[in-house]
Amino acid sequence: MNVRRHLPERSPRMPTSPPVLTDLLARRTRFARSDAIRDILAAGAAPGVLSMAGGLPAPDTFPTEELARILDRVLTESAAAALQYSPTEGVPAMREVLARLASATGAPVTADRVLVTGGSQQGLDLVAGILLEEGDVVALDDPSYLGAVQSFRRAGARLLPIPSDADGMDTDALEERLTAGARCKVVYVVPHFHNPSGAVLSVHRRRHLAALAEKFGFVIVEDDPYADLAFDGTRQPSVDMLSERVVRLMSLSKTLCPGLRVGGLVAPASLVPELAGAKQCADLQTNTLGQHVLARLLADPGFLPGHVARLQDFYRGRAGHLSGLIESRLPWLDFERPRGGLFFWCTVTAPGIDSGSLARTALAEGVAVVPGAPFCIERDGSRNLRLSFATLTEAQLLSAVDRLSAAFEKASVALESHR
Ligand SMILES: Cc1ncc(COP(=O)(O)O)c(C=O)c1O
Repeated sequence: MNVRRHLPERSPRMPTSPPVLTDLLARRTRFARSDAIRDILAAGAAPGVLSMAGGLPAPDTFPTEELARILDRVLTESAAAALQYSPTEGVPAMREVLARLASATGAPVTADRVLVTGGSQQGLDLVAGILLEEGDVVALDDPSYLGAVQSFRRAGARLLPIPSDADGMDTDALEERLTAGARCKVVYVVPHFHNPSGAVLSVHRRRHLAALAEKFGFVIVEDDPYADLAFDGTRQPSVDMLSERVVRLMSLSKTLCPGLRVGGLVAPASLVPELAGAKQCADLQTNTLGQHVLARLLADPGFLPGHVARLQDFYRGRAGHLSGLIESRLPWLDFERPRGGLFFWCTVTAPGIDSGSLARTALAEGVAVVPGAPFCIERDGSRNLRLSFATLTEAQLLSAVDRLSAAFEKASVALESHR
């Protein structure tokens, strides 16, 4: 049959404006429309701009030579398997490696409780997808990681912001809210070198959080991508050593590299099949080749300890350099010296200067920084700035700080002229 004959004729001159389909969108798409992450990355990518904006790890730390060597071997020795579809739960060798890594830093786990994911971000989205109904409550630090906020909001969750300080989430405040009747299904924490605040959840608060999970019946989502980036090499016990109600997200993005999109999660046995089902719908499986390569890399007992020690040296050096520059050149910027991770969470102390407009002026001066407000749920972030020290060299950090200083001068002059 000639299908064309049954199609209406369309005049070549008929106007063809694209259909507007947004009225067909599902309700949940209205819950979360944050362009903040996209805008941050786009601003930093403009030519000539020095970016302290994104949470990108330094390419100098990527294990490029090791990956090239292993990739070559994988393609020579096991291309048929490495280029094929693989199980939704993950390539067995990768699940084994992640189980070993998790057990070395937290509660002992077997590979059947591990799901390989496309990074922690996918883990967050899967957890949100299987646990949260519209209106369910998720407690989280205020400020919080934007990617988590987005996933929880898209699932229809109501966010319960909990104040935090240098020791992480104030679990007394959490307990007060729970005792007052907040029915919380998930509590989300970033226990080491929080993004954006840099906080480390104290051991006392980890224990308290675990006890609250037992008492009030919620799930703890422990998202820990920065634990290996401790400047003094120390690490607090993972929360899953203290509670069996933990989903532990295991990002490899900051420890190895984000581009392969291979990470994982460890979940209570009862949730693994549901998470695997959700993952099957999302993407069938995580990149097989990447899993084969990383499984081999991480199975080498000689690799990780030396690599992590180099990461820590590298980031300690860059953070120390930026500390010195801020102290000597930006006296209007207050900050806690980070103990690890990638960020400085700063406060603009000069009265009347808003961090959002300062960030815009800074971009015009050629340096991208992130204002605090998008990370904040309830608290006022209008005086905060997040600065990443990871990807700029020492010379670039100096220029970036000078540009930020020039932006501050301009913002101060503009403020004076409005008075
Ligand atoms: C707290 C936190 N969780 C998760 C992620 C995303 O990790 P992944 O690359 O493993 O998806 C980031 C990235 O910046 C992050 O800061």
